[in-house]
Amino acid sequence: MSHVDVDFSRELAGKRVLVTGGAGFIGSNVVETLCRAGAHVIVLDNLVTGSLSNIDPSIEYEFVDGSVAERDLVAQLVIESDYVLHLAALNIIASTKNPRDDYETNIGGTLNVLTAARKSRAKRIVYSSSASVYGNSKHLPISEDEATRTFSPYAVSKLAGENYCHAFYETYGVPVASLRYSNVYGEKQQESNPYCGVVAKFVGAIDRGEEVPIHGDGQQTRDFTYVGDVVEATLMTLLSPKSEGLVMNVGSGIESSVLKLAEEIGAAMGRPIAFRHVNRRDIDNIRRRVMNIELIRTRVRWQPRTSLREGIRRTVSWYRAAGVASEHAVPARR
Ligand SMILES: NC(=O)c1ccc[n+]([C@@H]2O[C@H](COP(=O)([O-])OP(=O)(O)OC[C@H]3O[C@@H](n4cnc5c(N)ncnc54)[C@H](O)[C@@H]3O)[C@@H](O)[C@H]2O)c1
Repeated sequence: MSHVDVDFSRELAGKRVLVTGGAGFIGSNVVETLCRAGAHVIVLDNLVTGSLSNIDPSIEYEFVDGSVAERDLVAQLVIESDYVLHLAALNIIASTKNPRDDYETNIGGTLNVLTAARKSRAKRIVYSSSASVYGNSKHLPISEDEATRTFSPYAVSKLAGENYCHAFYETYGVPVASLRYSNVYGEKQQESNPYCGVVAKFVGAIDRGEEVPIHGDGQQTRDFTYVGDVVEATLMTLLSPKSEGLVMNVGSGIESSVLKLAEEIGAAMGRPIAFRHVNRRDIDNIRRRVMNIELIRTRVRWQPRTSLREGIRRTVSWYRAAGVASEHAVPARR
């Protein structure tokens, strides 16, 4: 489980919380934190990329095997919930391969959640959006009023979801907030998921003694955000009346190059690293990214607590405990 220091039990004990996509990387970390706070958690997931093995088997929750694209099922679950966390989505790789499936899950699924929320007792809903809506931003760090530039069908669908959230807030008073997450890494991110994120890929490659594949020159930057911090941001937003109707960035606020990330992982693993430069993929069209996180800091009073070094250290220990990365004493190159 990811490190989450805030205790949410006062507000969430006994509450029914629906988590769509709760078997995925971020969702399973959220589910464990909610269950530990005493919430009654219902996970809706069709397991297309998620897995129930992501969730600690000692934890009690309800699982519904189904899709957010099933309107009646979603309506029934949302109507019965006190809070809704809408994390289910097709990732950028699946979406690039099949934009129609992306449209049905990411846009249609979000519309189903919001439509049901109009009739629900749900006190608040959080929609997980993505920093990918900014494209190649002109100004850094990127604040929420920066223009959106949708370079991929995935960015289009995540932005459409946000726009629906905003429209349902303004038109029907649905108490919803959107969070734009930036490159999340940490416990439970699986290398077997084709869009597992770069950290899981690098750990796997370094562990196997392979060269680390770097797309392009490796000088591209991202704002890498530890999943425990993302869980805290998400639950604090869920519980904050001041979040309603807003779109807020979630990031570390620190810009790191992909090469620096690889070096940090190599150092945490005590392994030598060698690079293999490979061609840019069609989804690698963003050069620099770092988020301005002032809005969520002031509205929700959330701030990231985990440095890249500490987050990587925790992530590597989790991979080792999960048997994904081994602990042979190979001397580090640096
Ligand atoms: N990981 C990141 O860096 C990142 C960055 C920005 C935004 N996000 C957003 O965060 C959310 C969670 O992402 P993640 O990284 O945990 O991905 P993930 O693929 O691990 O989780 C997504 C979950 O949604 C489920 N799902 C997909 N289609 C579904 C459907 N039709 N019905 C029900 N469940 C379905 C999958 O099985 C999976 O369990 C997504 O909305 C994603 O767009 C993630």
